[in-house]
Amino acid sequence: MSLLEKFERYPLTFGATPIEHLPRLTEALGGKVQIYAKREDCNSGLAMGGNKLRKLEYIVPDAIASGADTLVSIGGVQSNHTRMVAATAAKIGMKSVVIQEKWVPHHDAVYDRVGNILMTRLMGADSRLVEDGFDIGIRKSWEDAIQSVKDAGGKPYAIPAGASVHKFGALGYIGFAEEVAEQEKELGFTFDYIVVCVVTGSTQAGMVVGFAAQDRADRVIGIDASGTLEQTRAQVRQIVDNTAELVGLGREVREDEIVINPDYAYPAYGVPSEETNEAIRLAARTEAMMTDPVYEGKSMQGMIDLTRKGFFPEGSKVLYAHLGGAPALNGYSYYYRNG
Ligand SMILES: Cc1ncc(COP(=O)(O)O)c(C=O)c1O
Repeated sequence: MSLLEKFERYPLTFGATPIEHLPRLTEALGGKVQIYAKREDCNSGLAMGGNKLRKLEYIVPDAIASGADTLVSIGGVQSNHTRMVAATAAKIGMKSVVIQEKWVPHHDAVYDRVGNILMTRLMGADSRLVEDGFDIGIRKSWEDAIQSVKDAGGKPYAIPAGASVHKFGALGYIGFAEEVAEQEKELGFTFDYIVVCVVTGSTQAGMVVGFAAQDRADRVIGIDASGTLEQTRAQVRQIVDNTAELVGLGREVREDEIVINPDYAYPAYGVPSEETNEAIRLAARTEAMMTDPVYEGKSMQGMIDLTRKGFFPEGSKVLYAHLGGAPALNGYSYYYRNG
């Protein structure tokens, strides 16, 4: 039985996302571990999709029931999340106000004109650039934006960074875990590991709760891209506990069931290392799979490095959760000017 039965879901995605074998990447990494991807990046027709839509599907019913007319959220200048909030608002006929903070010390001339923020503006969001730096927690700039909607006579509905510290923020990725189990029945095998990027926490937290119900949460390998490991880990822990309680998991999730590897977040959030860029190139050149320098490039780098190091035993099947984010590549054109 699904843990999600009692929760209302507003469909924003196409349905179950495809699982794809990646034979050329598998081969490039020595062929001893089979690499697959679950394509969350191809999950919707809404403004190029991505992981936030699974989360927002469980948040929208609450937003509509509240009588709100404006979604208010926050992220960095090249935030995928604020793009997805703007898309959701357009789709359900609400307005949106999104605060875009200077989370990344990055200076491509068109960084605040292309990719995510371009689409966010095109979809009619009131996108407000502010100077504050990276922080996954609750921010004053966001609270000010909520107040500004009220002051203008509107009714805001507040969605925190990454839709993570929201009562329903992790439900969507419980759905991911249940979907993987269904797809495994059709495939005729089970995955030994799931690799996922983690920053604001509710994607991994939802997976952890969902896979805990299948007794394999410790096989979810979070690859930190925040560079603020303690804060991210604490946030994942808190979301896991709240969500386990909310859905009635029926037991505590143990510390060893929350696995977060901090080794690939360097040099900083939003800044790729040379190894990140090599990982992005390898996925692109073997599988035409686009990953970005902020999130998925780092989890790709982690998966590649862990495979090469022999972390996954020979014969393992590894599922890379591709969470989206490719639009941000446009903000990093200098890095990739020669490919
Ligand atoms: C493309 C992409 N990958 C990974 C993440 C990390 O997910 P979470 O914030 O739920 O930890 C995000 C959002 O922050 C994202 O946009």
